[in-house]
Amino acid sequence: MPEDIQKRKDDHLALCLRGDVRAPARHSLDSVRLEYDCLPDLDLDEVDLSTTLFGRPLRAPLLIGAMTGGSDSGAAVNRSLATAARELGLGMCLGSQRAMIERPELAWTYDVRAMAGDLPLVVGNLGAIQLNKGVGVAQIREMVDRVPLDVLALHLNPLQEAIQPGGDTAWRGLWERVSEVVGGLELEVIFKEVGAGVSRAAASRLAALPVAGIDAAGVGGTSWAMVEALRAEDTPAGAAGRNLAWFGVETARSILNCRAAFGDRVVIGSGGITTGYQVAAALALGADAVAMSQPLLEAAEGGSEQVIARLEEILFELRVVMFCTGSGSTSALRGALAEPGALAQRGMEREREQGQAKGRRG
Ligand SMILES: Cc1cc2nc3c(=O)[nH]c(=O)nc-3n(C[C@H](O)[C@H](O)[C@H](O)COP(=O)(O)O)c2cc1C
Repeated sequence: MPEDIQKRKDDHLALCLRGDVRAPARHSLDSVRLEYDCLPDLDLDEVDLSTTLFGRPLRAPLLIGAMTGGSDSGAAVNRSLATAARELGLGMCLGSQRAMIERPELAWTYDVRAMAGDLPLVVGNLGAIQLNKGVGVAQIREMVDRVPLDVLALHLNPLQEAIQPGGDTAWRGLWERVSEVVGGLELEVIFKEVGAGVSRAAASRLAALPVAGIDAAGVGGTSWAMVEALRAEDTPAGAAGRNLAWFGVETARSILNCRAAFGDRVVIGSGGITTGYQVAAALALGADAVAMSQPLLEAAEGGSEQVIARLEEILFELRVVMFCTGSGSTSALRGALAEPGALAQRGMEREREQGQAKGRRG
């Protein structure tokens, strides 16, 4: 069975590199207008990208998103990504660690600190649905003993599982099960989607659990319905996956939903982020940091230097946008929206304000 997981994970890497699993439409964060300031009262060099996430200092509000581990090729990708994360002082997320729960000898493929040295923040990963299938506190503790983590992300991916050949679709009772397990762990836990986003109602239910935050992972980038449709080929699941490729909550909306529900807990914005402007827009809507996955996988093919080059481009653009909105720090970006009215038309402004008010109340 674990061989199946490894094969599936390698298929995922190959399909995500083909490029036709990315959203073709304009990204929701490109519609967010930031207020341009033609007289910023600061120097470009003064702009401070640094932040603190889960109590850990990062040089910029960016994480390399959850992708891989569990196979030789996954380990090679993790090494390139982790080297870049260490070099730039960014966070690093691991792909699902289910393979190493089933085969502990694969732990090395996830051990990014052993590969790359002192990383500021390592976020582990497991499908929340695994908790409905018998994974519990003991297995998670063992997993963390083998590969130390700062935070564990439990991913929620019902659309992907429904399309995936042999996917896990028995989701009844998962909220209660997650509640039991999270309560028994010493480690900080967050939720994450995988690119279909988080509705308002789901964000509220998730925020009722004792977790440290959420990664909004909305529609706009990699579609896991599409990835699994390509694997399911000419079957009803394959047809459904192609039709439902962009079903879900767009990234901008998902960030607002998560911020409104999670108050002052951590919200990570992700799902199709490829530019510095989009990073700035995500922060303006209330994200504390962003995560990027597939675009960095493409870069990782060329080794850590290309990942670093890609990230430096994005971070330079972010710096320029911060300079030209008069934002000296990432927290200052929260007030940098040009047209709150336009957001109101999209029904987003009220949610942003509610989230900020909750955050202030703490
Ligand atoms: C090759 C690949 C593998 C992924 N594997 C995982 C995974 O194991 N666990 C997870 O939570 N998300 C996984 N994701 C989803 C990403 O973390 C992210 O939520 C999603 O791809 C949307 O971000 P993007 O548009 O920047 O790729 C994977 C993404 C890619 C591209």
